[in-house]
Amino acid sequence: MIPLISVVGTGRVGSSIAFLCVSNALDDVLLVNRTKDKALGESLDISSAIPSNSKFSIRGTDDYSELVGSDVVVITASVGVYTKDRSENMDIQVKMIKNIAEKIKQYCPSAIVLIISNPLDVLTYYFQKSSGFSRFKVIGIASSLDTSRFRYCISETLDVPQSSVQNALVLGEHGDSMVPIFSGVSVGGNPLFSMIDSRDTISENVRNYWKTLRNFKSRSQFGIAKNTFDVIESILNKKEIEIPASIVLEGEYGEYNVSMGVPVKIDQNGVSQIREINLDDDELSLLKKSSEKIRSDIKLVSH
Ligand code: 2OP
Repeated sequence: MIPLISVVGTGRVGSSIAFLCVSNALDDVLLVNRTKDKALGESLDISSAIPSNSKFSIRGTDDYSELVGSDVVVITASVGVYTKDRSENMDIQVKMIKNIAEKIKQYCPSAIVLIISNPLDVLTYYFQKSSGFSRFKVIGIASSLDTSRFRYCISETLDVPQSSVQNALVLGEHGDSMVPIFSGVSVGGNPLFSMIDSRDTISENVRNYWKTLRNFKSRSQFGIAKNTFDVIESILNKKEIEIPASIVLEGEYGEYNVSMGVPVKIDQNGVSQIREINLDDDELSLLKKSSEKIRSDIKLVSH
């Protein structure tokens, strides 16, 4: 079997992504984990979810050479546990992503790489820089998750169905400086601004969503898994998708030397377009602060 979708890191998130790919018969899946038994165990479990009419399969390994032939590589690996801030283990995570970048460069240099591990924007930046891959093929998936959470928080605040919330968007860091974009949001066809007094409570709820969730279960998994699956599906099924995602910027939004969440179009070749949308003055200034925060984290990493 030539694996087309490879998932590096088989914790809750990696295995949930693999489960969605396999149960939807998207393509063959390879699970890679430094603890081989973990990869084998997850692949045995997920194998039972292969639909009877699917020609695809899943297997596990600790051997990166098996990545040969991957079209999409998803990185969910993590070498430490963080509790208060996604940047807590930044140095060691950056070291890890550079090692993984070396392997991916060696075994599947044409793959599109989706980064899920945290700190998301810093790791997306370092993966792209150290692999030398086109920036359009290294995509950090998180702002679409934050956007799902933004939509949820609006619908809870106004007690309306999520489906009535249109054009919600979160840009910038996948972290405390993330920027929910209120200016374009409509609810049931009316501007959100006519229905709320201030942006503050909703923004706080979106930023702290992952911490709130951790009061009840140890980690988030399903939201990020579905958001990642949608991107893999758009790549493999040649079906364009438009979402906010982290990508290294070279002048877009006036930014350089940073990767952060911006609206992008993704198709079978990776990011096909970075969309520069109109933002109000508050949003622009918050986005600037967010990019500065990520850039200063990038500089903090010891080399
Ligand atoms: C999340 O937002 C922790 O980044 C992870 O759920």
